[in-house]
Amino acid sequence: MASVLAIETSCDETAVAVVKNRQVCSNVVASQILIHQHYGGVVPEVASRQHLETINPAIAQALSEAKLGWGEIDAIAATCAPGLVGALLVGTTTAKTLAMVHQKPFLGVHHLEGHIYATYLSEPTLEPPFLSLLVSGGHTSLIHVKKCGEYETLGQTRDDAAGEAFDKVARLLKLGYPGGPIIDKLAQQGNTKAFSLPEGKISLPEGGFHPYDASFSGLKTAVLRLVQQLEKKGNTLPVEDIAASFQDTVARALTKRAIACALDYGLETIAVGGGVAANSALRAHLTTTASAHNLRVLFPPLKFCTDNAAMIGCAAAEHFSQGHTSPLTLGVHSRLTVNRVMELYQH
Ligand code: KG4
Ligand code: ZN
Repeated sequence: MASVLAIETSCDETAVAVVKNRQVCSNVVASQILIHQHYGGVVPEVASRQHLETINPAIAQALSEAKLGWGEIDAIAATCAPGLVGALLVGTTTAKTLAMVHQKPFLGVHHLEGHIYATYLSEPTLEPPFLSLLVSGGHTSLIHVKKCGEYETLGQTRDDAAGEAFDKVARLLKLGYPGGPIIDKLAQQGNTKAFSLPEGKISLPEGGFHPYDASFSGLKTAVLRLVQQLEKKGNTLPVEDIAASFQDTVARALTKRAIACALDYGLETIAVGGGVAANSALRAHLTTTASAHNLRVLFPPLKFCTDNAAMIGCAAAEHFSQGHTSPLTLGVHSRLTVNRVMELYQH
């Protein structure tokens, strides 16, 4: 069983974990949310500097909680794509340096492959093929997981990610950052039918709509117009009703696409990942609709849905077990589709 020390610094969490294949020995996450909250979103340069401050103590804590020394670590991994370049560089450079100093193999990991592997941490018997619904602040994708390193993106957002839509709507309602958890909470007291909001659809040149692709920027603009109209009339904003109507529209749009995709591709399991997997409306809609179609839905615990290094370690351990390692010359990439994961390895 391979023990991997993994580092995740692609955005605003400095995370370090030690995993033994699918078993988590330690999982340290130092969140920067309180720092970025002042700016209403993640400031890339601030994120990089904060990663630099936090990375070494986080590594020491992860090793100590796992009760392991460097001699017992088999490989060192770090997220190297996609993400904020400066932030990725901190984690990747640290991992490569440690790999050199301790004479261990290095593995660069694709962040989205990590999110896919998050489900393995809570479902150790899960095996491909399955459909991954990845809904975070930066991504909204439906990915056909065929085997380790082999992924096909079947659907995605054409503009804003689902989490980004939650954050932008929260900002225009002046609710704070990150918006998802705040909107989710307010929506509990609201009426989902109070406002009819448009579900973004992607037209196809041959007519009809793309069955799996989504769009959330039109929905966000519709909420903006609604808020402007209500404010013009001098009304107090019914924030709970707006939150509930918006959240319900997002949850239904994601559910419809995920179910259609799973059925069309004959995939019996949908594994959900990313911060928006915490959303109560998405959980409810998807679970009910999936069971009506005899599909299985897996929602990992939230600590594995949001950014963490355990999921990165799990993906790295799987690649390592297949003989894949990365060259120390591997760079970081702000954008890299998950279909190109195998370009990170020499095998
Ligand atoms: O996966 P994640 O931690 O980071 C990225 O890789 O982006 O996801 C963060 C996103 C944020 O946009 C946040 O607003 C959203 O997940 N989020 C939620 C909820 N909790 C977090 N969105 C909707 N409902 C929630 N309960
Ligand atoms: Zn993420």
